[in-house]
Amino acid sequence: MCGIVGYVGRRRLVPVVLEGLKRLEYRGYDSAGIVYLQDGALVKFRSEGKLQNLENILGEAIGASSNIGLGHTRWATHGAPTTENAHPHSDCTGDLVVVHNGIIENYHSLRNELLAKGHVFASETDTEVLAHLIEEYLEKDLQVAVTKALARVEGSYALGVLWTGMPDTLIAARNHSPLVLGVHDEEGGFMASDIPPLLPYTDQIIFLDDLELAVLKGDSHVVYSLVSGDKVEKEVKTISWNSAMAEKGGYKHFMLKEIYEQPQAIIDTVSGRINPETGSVELPEMNLSDADLAGIERIFLVACGTSWHAALVAKYWIERWAGIPVEVDIASEFRYRKLLIDKKVLTISISQSGDTADTLAGIRLASELGSKIVTICNVVGSTMTREAHGTVYTHAGPEIGVASTKAFTSQLAALFLFTLYLAEKRGKMEANKRLEMGRELINLAAVIDKMLPSLQEEIKKLIENYYDVRDFLFVGRGLNFPIALEGALKLKEISYIHAEGYASGELKHGPIALIDKDMPVLGLVPRDAVYQKSISNLEEIKARQGRLILIGTQGDEHLKCIADDVIYLP
Ligand code: BG6
Repeated sequence: MCGIVGYVGRRRLVPVVLEGLKRLEYRGYDSAGIVYLQDGALVKFRSEGKLQNLENILGEAIGASSNIGLGHTRWATHGAPTTENAHPHSDCTGDLVVVHNGIIENYHSLRNELLAKGHVFASETDTEVLAHLIEEYLEKDLQVAVTKALARVEGSYALGVLWTGMPDTLIAARNHSPLVLGVHDEEGGFMASDIPPLLPYTDQIIFLDDLELAVLKGDSHVVYSLVSGDKVEKEVKTISWNSAMAEKGGYKHFMLKEIYEQPQAIIDTVSGRINPETGSVELPEMNLSDADLAGIERIFLVACGTSWHAALVAKYWIERWAGIPVEVDIASEFRYRKLLIDKKVLTISISQSGDTADTLAGIRLASELGSKIVTICNVVGSTMTREAHGTVYTHAGPEIGVASTKAFTSQLAALFLFTLYLAEKRGKMEANKRLEMGRELINLAAVIDKMLPSLQEEIKKLIENYYDVRDFLFVGRGLNFPIALEGALKLKEISYIHAEGYASGELKHGPIALIDKDMPVLGLVPRDAVYQKSISNLEEIKARQGRLILIGTQGDEHLKCIADDVIYLP
């Protein structure tokens, strides 16, 4: 969860990098640093804690005339979050610096080898090994030294390197950790671990692939393969996101802004793909022929975190409406189990970023076993979209809040479209039904848009009764079971309150023992096919003096008889 920003060009370095790092703050970090080249020497600042601490120690250096350098926000993995362990890390001479995201798995043996050769280490990090290893190979050319060093490295890296011996050049390299370049004729060259830092300056993006190295100057960029050493022709992609999309726009924080952007994300994901007159769905970028679709016997959905919850919801839809058996896997489990996959299996990865390492590894394995791969993804040009046979883009725009909100909703919209598409192609759904469901999907954005402001006020009041609890249960049945899991995940990640999601029917098999007045339960009980069953489960909670918040369908007065609080949805 670290951030990298690098720049070489006509602008003053420090503000570009500092602003860029702020745009990556959402990833979480516990120390930060910046380095620039001034009058032939490297000037380095590092601090624990927030970027504000770094800004404070920078003082007048904010106005330094340097226009080449690197910045980093670190999330501690090897070594405590101290100033000494913050990046950038230097070699023994202090003339070379590196910033790094990822983990060097063989750092221990490399460190011992370098210590034996007389290198002196100043931190406990795995990253510092890279600085000394590059120093070991450095003669005249930084690119050659970095290439040789990386050949010795096992693990993952997004890497930025600067050396006084080549004062107009930044080196960027990537393996299993995202890194993008931004290019602009007048502004210069940028590198970053995610797109938002580049948005104020350019919409021209190059996505580095694994085992690639870039030589970045103010007026040029060349990408090489770390395996063959050959030049690689890279496509420069124009992205449609703009800088304002990555700013707070009057909201108190990004997550709230993104909650309010859900209707737009749904509209953008659905528009042009569904015919409002016929309910027919078009997903041409999925790249699957009618024969491919007819041949699918099973679908594997592979994802992590919130995207996995979207997959769990989609299982209910696809099985019910398209009649195809679906298996859903957490990617970090999928990639290490025996996979019974062949060409009759369609594997779908779901990922906001398109760069989550486990999900990526999962689709690579499935592809090797003969499965066609489709990715449902939000980032145009990300690794997954390049490696999959086809893509269904969610057009949610940049999601800055680390806890997924609008990306989740747009994933559901895309998965619903996919379900309608499959159902139609496989002749499983009457045209009338498809039309009705298609229209509901189109209307959804307007319904959410109307509901959000009053809902926010209502929830603000209600939360006064619950904000100080330590534990929470979220329960639901059917489609709302994964939604309960997602609710619990959100509460954990954002409020640091312990929460678990359960299928309502499973409560009686153990968790009900936990119910008392200190364990509120949030139940999802829309008027659906399993409504009565859900109500029976909730009655059991009530009988044990549990506190109940219910989310149900407008007009359902019965909920008030059993709940302490009710939130109604249209
Ligand atoms: C986690 C995020 O780190 O990654 C979740 O906190 C997200 O919100 C998960 O769902 C998976 O990410 P992605 O980009 O593959 O959807």
